[in-house]
Amino acid sequence: MKFFIDTANLKEIQEAYELGVLDGVTTNPSLMAKEGIKGKNNIFKHYANICEIVKDGDVSAEVIATTYEEMIKEGEELADLHENIVVKVPMIKDGIRAIKYFYDKDIRTNCTLVFSAGQALLAAKAGASYVSPFVGRLDDVSTDGLQLIEQIVDIYSNYDFDTEVLAASVRHPMHLIKCAELGADVVTCPLSVITSLLNHPLTDSGLAKFLSDYKKSQE
Ligand code: G3P
Repeated sequence: MKFFIDTANLKEIQEAYELGVLDGVTTNPSLMAKEGIKGKNNIFKHYANICEIVKDGDVSAEVIATTYEEMIKEGEELADLHENIVVKVPMIKDGIRAIKYFYDKDIRTNCTLVFSAGQALLAAKAGASYVSPFVGRLDDVSTDGLQLIEQIVDIYSNYDFDTEVLAASVRHPMHLIKCAELGADVVTCPLSVITSLLNHPLTDSGLAKFLSDYKKSQE
């Protein structure tokens, strides 16, 4: 299972990389805006900086365009930035056409804003490298986001699709653990969700006891 972090914050990406379990980064226009990155040149420079930090990991960079022709142009520019860029394309009709175009050109894609099994099936048919169902945002509208992950993993397993299931909008450790149980290929989440996997009170009390026993034995 791959761990991606969902952020455009360079400090957080560096920290995740140093932890040694980072496989990639996903961003979106909201996350770029949160970091105050403005203007196409600065945004492109920021993607290149992220790629340098992540080294071999995939970095999803989202197109702003929403028409086929513009998505092709923007996606090709993004893909030219670095070999690890994965072009993130929204789940709309022109997006599906663009994903097929990119597939034929060997440009990898991440189909985003996926909220149904039918959309995930279309993305796989078009040749998306990753499909991003949004778990937390479905939960936000009283729909079981994890059930969608289960359904997509199940459907993909019936066929030879190369598309990887990238569980997005993963907000807490139970989301992550459940995605692992269901066989999602990738999760993307804030770094805090990954580091929260470290926590257990018995680990803390056990370590404290080991250290105090060691100290006593040396007196
Ligand atoms: O990048 C897409 C997704 O991971 C966003 O998550 O928490 O804003 O729903 P969230």
